[in-house]
Amino acid sequence: MIKLGVNIDHIATIRQARKEGFPSIIEAAAICEKGGADSITVHLREDRRHIQDKDIYDLRKSLRTKLNLEMAASEEIVKIALDVKPNFVCIVPEKRQELTTEGGLDVENQKNKLVGIVDRLKKAGIIVSMFIDANVEQVLACNEIKADAIEIHTGKYARFLKENGSNSSDFKEEIKRISKASQEAIKKGLILNAGHGLDYDNIKQICEISGMNEFNIGFSIIARSVFIGLETAVKNMKELIVRGLCSY
Ligand code: PXP
Repeated sequence: MIKLGVNIDHIATIRQARKEGFPSIIEAAAICEKGGADSITVHLREDRRHIQDKDIYDLRKSLRTKLNLEMAASEEIVKIALDVKPNFVCIVPEKRQELTTEGGLDVENQKNKLVGIVDRLKKAGIIVSMFIDANVEQVLACNEIKADAIEIHTGKYARFLKENGSNSSDFKEEIKRISKASQEAIKKGLILNAGHGLDYDNIKQICEISGMNEFNIGFSIIARSVFIGLETAVKNMKELIVRGLCSY
């Protein structure tokens, strides 16, 4: 069954808007777990715009499921990861001015830098993933640097579906790219995850890509939780993922 990782960065976004001690990240994570989350994801950004260092140390202690830390390949954050030892790390590109992670990591052109980071994290017992665009060359580069997993950036998939529809050539081409990259990842023995921009309307088609291990979903779940509560918002997404799997 495909798993659901819930990204709770935006619980911290609300908290940081007032720099209050609430809403609590720890409470949010526990509610997500109750709703069926298989893991909890947080992105410790270099600018600390939402998640703070203390959050990941606290989560490490409180989680009943798994902790997935998204991070840039920077020495400062690598050191924190080696200290916290999350279950998973996902290396992402990071630009200060971006609203969210725009595009995947160019692993192919940074192999020399990344291979050492992957090795250090793996030696600490952490499962290491690379957030990449749906591109076979990038999958091969992830395999070369001995990453354990890839997470395919589904931002374009989500945008093409919303703006141009499922019959558009843009969307169909992107699905083909995702399928090809996924097949290559499976062939190389890499764990296959996907995320970014996934929501209650677009989750169905991505469930049909075979071999998916986990989706990481944040914004749509947290946004929906404002109206219906976090536990129900997580439960609803989990049901869609389970049902999506049953459809093929
Ligand atoms: N996966 C990765 C690697 C991300 O950087 C993000 C955004 O922080 C997500 C998944 C979740 O994206 P969204 O908030 O659009 O669901």
